[in-house]
Amino acid sequence: MSTSPAAISVSGLTHTFEGEHTVAALRDVTLEVPRGAFASLIGRSGCGKSTLLRVLAGLVTPTSGEARIDGKAVGGRLGHAAYMPQQDTLLPWRRAMGNAVLALELQGMPRDECERLARPLLERFGLGEFVRAWPSELSGGMRQRLALARTFLARGPLILDEPFGALDALTRQEMQLWLQEVWSAAPVEERRAVLLVTHDIDEALLLSDVVHVMSDRPGRIVARIEVPLARPRTIADVTTGEFAALKAAVLRALGRGTG
Ligand SMILES: Nc1ncnc2c1ncn2[C@@H]1O[C@H](COP(=O)(O)OP(=O)(O)O)[C@@H](O)[C@H]1O
Ligand SMILES: [Mg+2]
Repeated sequence: MSTSPAAISVSGLTHTFEGEHTVAALRDVTLEVPRGAFASLIGRSGCGKSTLLRVLAGLVTPTSGEARIDGKAVGGRLGHAAYMPQQDTLLPWRRAMGNAVLALELQGMPRDECERLARPLLERFGLGEFVRAWPSELSGGMRQRLALARTFLARGPLILDEPFGALDALTRQEMQLWLQEVWSAAPVEERRAVLLVTHDIDEALLLSDVVHVMSDRPGRIVARIEVPLARPRTIADVTTGEFAALKAAVLRALGRGTG
């Protein structure tokens, strides 16, 4: 057996925001995402999900505990994980291509090399004809695909903060199936690990190998639910008894994490 470290590993992570109002955001969070696995983190609004991803991204230094990416301590440094923040961060004054290559350019890669890397990915993400478009000319789904393309171009496990949260229900469902498809297009051993934050139970179950359920603030992990459904999954899976049973388990865990 390989002894390679987990893609994402968080242990005993506690974070309290100090300031005028002290906010205990995370309490003793421990979780692991193995290499190549798709995990999600579900919890109510305000429970600390984004804070956890910001710790993994190196933007927040936790009060205590540790976060590791591919075995290396994050230690408040950027660039270990490919992070997609919760808010749409496309720059309106850059065309689609300019937005896609932003992170690579900031790392100092020459623009033509960035574009050579980005072009096939943009094509695979259905944006091949839109590389010169401005973000304002793209639909909501296309904007999210572009933000995801930018994230995929960055190194490390993918940490995605409610990537489809702002989309209408139908577009959202299309995008979930699309994400499953682009993620699983790579051979199993080359798949990127994903930690997806969501408050949508169907989304978490449809996409994940494992769902981590977080309690209300301060967030702690109250359940780890494996999703043994065969892949590729389809929308029809959502209506099966097996899916309903998994959904009930997530709901029970969320209920235990209230108050
Ligand atoms: N920079 C900050 N300073 C103070 N409090 C914050 C800060 N960021 C988040 N919080 C608070 O921490 C809690 C968890 O927030 P967040 O991680 O964004 O939750 P979620 O993503 O689950 O909705 C909330 O009560 C939020 O108001
Ligand atoms: Mg959030």
